[in-house]
Amino acid sequence: MSSESSSQSLDRPTEDVTLSVNGETVSATVEPRLKLSDFLRQECGQRGVRVGCEHGVCGACTVLVDGKATKSCLTYAVQVDDAEVTTVEGLSDGGDLHPIQEAFHQEHALQCGFCTSGFVMATKELLDREPDPDQEQIEEGLADNICRCTGYVNIYSAVDRAAEELAEVPSDDLTDRTAGGDD
Ligand code: FES
Ligand code: FES
Repeated sequence: MSSESSSQSLDRPTEDVTLSVNGETVSATVEPRLKLSDFLRQECGQRGVRVGCEHGVCGACTVLVDGKATKSCLTYAVQVDDAEVTTVEGLSDGGDLHPIQEAFHQEHALQCGFCTSGFVMATKELLDREPDPDQEQIEEGLADNICRCTGYVNIYSAVDRAAEELAEVPSDDLTDRTAGGDD
């Protein structure tokens, strides 16, 4: 990931933005119209940020902004100045998957996988907020995300499994790259 990047053109207004992306400080000069999803993919190389509908409907582009699940296709990069942004790449520790990612793998909670990073990030926010969610809370927590392949049953099972496994993991054993360092 580049720490200094630029997407300005000569004849369009630009703004400077500095933020943390998966724990790394990124400074750039961008057009105010640049979406956070495009900024993360193009300027920061975070290709785990998926762009589906680009209308705030599917949730594929979900990232955490200061720990809150946020649709990056509805957010401008300049709106996250000074914020801490976490993408799905920020959850794994090198080759070690985060327990939420591992749970999605174990429960076969994906087929094409296009929606998966958005679901994983929505799950991260849900379990940070509610470590032991019941079925209704899981369905509510993931209601902003659409999967066309799995029928949701395995995804809900993955959230259950992740909650159980996270309850067993000392927080010090998880990577510390998400907003607030509470991961
Ligand atoms: S791409 Fe952002 S909600 Fe669909
Ligand atoms: S796994 Fe394909 S859209 Fe969800």
